[in-house]
Amino acid sequence: MVTQMKTLDDYKNAYKASVENPEQFWADQADKFVWKKRWDKVLKWDFKGPDVRWFDGGKLNITENCLDRHVEVRGDKTALIWVGNEPDAPNKTYTYKELFLKVNKFANALKAQGVKKGDRVVFYMPMIPELMIGMLACARIGAIHSIVFAGFSAQSLADRIIDAEAKVVICSDYNRRGAKNIPVKTVVDEALALGCKTIEKVIVYKSTGGDMVWNPDMDVDYCKIMDGVAEFCEPEAMESEDPLFILYTSGSTGKPKGVVHTTAGYMVFAAYTFKNVFQYQENDIYWCTADIGWVTGHSYIVYGPLLEGATTMMFEGVPSYPDAGRFWDIIEKNKVTQFYTAPTAIRALMAEGDEFVEKYDLSSLKVLGTVGEPINEEAWMWYFEKVGKRAKPIVDTWWQTETGGILITPLPLITDMRPTFASYPLPGVQPILVDPAGNLITENGVEGLLCIKFPWPGILRTTWGDHVRCRQTYFSAFPDLYFTGDGARRDEDGRYRIIGRVDDVLNVSGHRIGTAEVENAINMAPGVVESAVVGFPHDIKGQGIYAFVIAQGSVDNIDELKKSIINSVRVEIGPIAKPDIIQIVPGLPKTRSGKIMRRILRKIASGDMSNIGDISTLLNPEVVEEIKKNAPTL
Ligand code: WT7
Repeated sequence: MVTQMKTLDDYKNAYKASVENPEQFWADQADKFVWKKRWDKVLKWDFKGPDVRWFDGGKLNITENCLDRHVEVRGDKTALIWVGNEPDAPNKTYTYKELFLKVNKFANALKAQGVKKGDRVVFYMPMIPELMIGMLACARIGAIHSIVFAGFSAQSLADRIIDAEAKVVICSDYNRRGAKNIPVKTVVDEALALGCKTIEKVIVYKSTGGDMVWNPDMDVDYCKIMDGVAEFCEPEAMESEDPLFILYTSGSTGKPKGVVHTTAGYMVFAAYTFKNVFQYQENDIYWCTADIGWVTGHSYIVYGPLLEGATTMMFEGVPSYPDAGRFWDIIEKNKVTQFYTAPTAIRALMAEGDEFVEKYDLSSLKVLGTVGEPINEEAWMWYFEKVGKRAKPIVDTWWQTETGGILITPLPLITDMRPTFASYPLPGVQPILVDPAGNLITENGVEGLLCIKFPWPGILRTTWGDHVRCRQTYFSAFPDLYFTGDGARRDEDGRYRIIGRVDDVLNVSGHRIGTAEVENAINMAPGVVESAVVGFPHDIKGQGIYAFVIAQGSVDNIDELKKSIINSVRVEIGPIAKPDIIQIVPGLPKTRSGKIMRRILRKIASGDMSNIGDISTLLNPEVVEEIKKNAPTL
């Protein structure tokens, strides 16, 4: 059985096998792992519920597969290289043995704090090794981790803690990012004051030693609870379908939902996709620049690499500090072989000029990856020419928080590359295109709505606390299909190009943001009556946020109003969701049933005023002229 594809024939054979006999295919991939009890049935599924079970009846612990399994054969190999924010600071490294020890000790420390199997533990932390150690420690004892990106506001953190009914929060004191030192613990304290009644303990890692308020009833010191605990923690025997983690993500309506991934299927899928997409070899140095607060970090900084016994790198800082050469400097210094980043970072660095990238020796690189948003051709070409010197394959990987791992991607030096195309599905992945009425589109050279018709092991199982919402969001638009929310084009040879979201979800710098969330935040600002938010093309961010706002009465000071709108978004969501443009409007174009016609607003926001389309069915067609007239020129 081929577990790492090397040739086009390997890919074709694996793909065929995965469709003809998926259970056999995935059982073969799962065989190499340590199981406490082998599964009874590889796959049971029904997309109506949905009810998807992989490796049902099996028992395992994912950390035994990430750590214990490797300690025996590559215990002294570096598991983690941590690169700090300051360019002259030495790296911290952890061998598999050292990481194993830390995780076991912290697992025991968590137990001593009363954390048990099934409890939810929220992390609000910068990119420091203690975050990885903490996640794995949770998985070791069967606690469910939920990581909240440390750029979210106190309100967002509170929303997630409350929804997950978390027992413990783990945080740092501060977050060093570039020249800034951002308070973290303070935000946690603010969140707890917003009614997080289930939290019993706050575990604080003193990363910078900066001042903070200490609440002796709740707060415990990460290092102190590690003192004197036993060095081995028996890994909890988890059912294959026991939850491993919850990760909150935005949709087209309401508050973010908690996407739930379970243990065995996620494990097998993260490992298989990591090994194949990056063509990882034993002595490679793999670096993914994502934040662990997003799914990319979960699957391709932590779980995928560790499951494959890889050396994975984690970077605390930002690409622009101390200058726009930082990524290239890190690649040169550490002889990075696989580099995985986001189009928004590529565009931002490209805009700084070629002299930064040209200064460094990037010859160690073997594979370049991108993820998170559509990559434009210019950025793709720059990545290919300036970073890869026209010699290194690029993998444009398409996937989602909900998919757990990569679904559509080129395979380096195995399948061909076409700029801006995510290309072909991985083995086990069966994408299809449908039209808006749900009819299957079978021909090539077409566009459609991207759906997946068969489960893969990493598919989400539910949304935390609300299974109906999971069904409605992903499995109801088209019966018996998983609907991705993306539109895609399929070329004559069957390659997919992801066009972007077809729902009310924005992708700003690779961050997924729901328009409804931003509108709610704007509407909470004093003096705002109603608002509508749409995306518009942005050179660096991919999409920018454009807010049309109806104000109460006549506005004396537009700048003040805009400031308070931006502040409200900061407080409710976080700085990543700040509107780039705010236009005060007398009304919003609405249909007779009162629905906002976003199509029209999107046109105006993109500066495409000439071709607004039919507005005769609007309740208030006159506002369109008014909005057009006052739209800022971009
Ligand atoms: C949405 C998912 C997957 C981890 C990071 C984002 C967009 C993702 C690509 C790509 C075009 C992409 C899609 C998708 N997206 N990768 N290679 N090309 N678009 O995860 O936050 O759940 O967002 O990101 O629109 O639906 P996410």
